[in-house]
Amino acid sequence: MAEVKAGLQDVVVAASEICSIDGEKGILAYRGYDIHDLAAQASFEEVVYLLWNGRLPKRGELADLETELAEDRPISPELIDLLKRLPPPQHPMETLRTAVSALSLYDPEAEDMSMEANRRKARRLTAQMGTIVAACGRIREGKEPVAPDPRLNHAANFLYMLKGAAPAAEDARWFDVALILHADHSFNASTFAARVTASTLSDLHSAITSAIGTLKGPLHGGANEQVMKMLLEIQSEDKAEDHVRGLLAQKTKVMGFGHRVYRTEDPRATVLRKMSEELGRRTGQPKWFQMSKRVEDLMIREKKINANVDFYSASAYYVLGIPVDLYPLIFAVSRIAGWTAHVLEQYAHNRLIRPLAAYTGPVGLKYVPVDQR
Ligand SMILES: CC(C)(COP(=O)(O)OP(=O)(O)OC[C@H]1O[C@@H](n2cnc3c(N)ncnc32)[C@H](O)[C@@H]1OP(=O)(O)O)[C@@H](O)C(=O)NCCC(=O)NCCS
Repeated sequence: MAEVKAGLQDVVVAASEICSIDGEKGILAYRGYDIHDLAAQASFEEVVYLLWNGRLPKRGELADLETELAEDRPISPELIDLLKRLPPPQHPMETLRTAVSALSLYDPEAEDMSMEANRRKARRLTAQMGTIVAACGRIREGKEPVAPDPRLNHAANFLYMLKGAAPAAEDARWFDVALILHADHSFNASTFAARVTASTLSDLHSAITSAIGTLKGPLHGGANEQVMKMLLEIQSEDKAEDHVRGLLAQKTKVMGFGHRVYRTEDPRATVLRKMSEELGRRTGQPKWFQMSKRVEDLMIREKKINANVDFYSASAYYVLGIPVDLYPLIFAVSRIAGWTAHVLEQYAHNRLIRPLAAYTGPVGLKYVPVDQR
């Protein structure tokens, strides 16, 4: 029997020019640019251009993309009406998944599979993801959605549309950095799901809907929400270690730790740790960072397991005033850039993704009529 690699661990399924990860050294790069350089110097819009086009934009190209994203950012009154009429979800990821699927019904190019149309759809989906998530957040609180402000960039616009007030410049920049850090991560589960769907030559909206359904799980994009729930349960720094020891004793995974690829610190966690600390200090709520640090120190000391991208993003988003159950949706606000880049790459060099299974069930059984069983 062929060797089975559980969870496709270490299996290389395709070549890609978009994102590289060195799990031993803890290096992540988009199109060859180290994530630390991008987080320190680029904007999310520059990263979007980079992921889609394979190179950084010139000033005019960046300005054009910013203008196009601003034009594409509003969502139609019909979609807002649909969001208002949906029953309250058990989790807002259900609403996001439904909304993105529904978007195709309002998109005149939904079934146009030309590369030009797919690039335009990728742009529209990227521009509108934040608008939809902010609208989901407001509608369930009985508030009217806030229309995007064309003068604000992607990150600032999201915080503005969610809260109805323009964010402080420092908050907006840190959120921009968070979006950069989450924009792509090679063949993670949701991106792979998107590529599998695209490989059947199904449309872009279907591929992104698959990705959102995959991101929803607590082992992937749902982890940051679970981290914050844990911190809220712990409530004070001096209880952090006992709480985590209790989880480990019950063999319960501590959310926000561990990674399939990294054998050292996730480079995104390095930046997010700083973000959590600085935002906590700036907003006068340092306790969430301090508590997180105690949890992290214990996990490294006792289990030698490092924090991943979801650990410090939780406390950072919390002090930015983002509702906890929206955290996985924010992942999508950023990851849509990577998902669409991968789907475009899949379409450009498509081969149906169709692996094999090692069958382990019974063989040669004889059919027995229903009355004789
Ligand atoms: C991300 C994750 C799914 C990777 O899992 P994986 O590659 O399949 O690795 P495994 O789950 O097999 O873990 C390997 C070992 O480390 C332990 N481990 C991994 N993550 C752990 C965690 N978060 N807490 C406690 N122990 C953990 C496992 O118990 C296992 O130990 P064992 O060999 O003694 O049984 C896993 O680390 C996890 O569930 N983390 C929590 C969820 C999370 O933060 N997800 C976001 C990822 S970015």
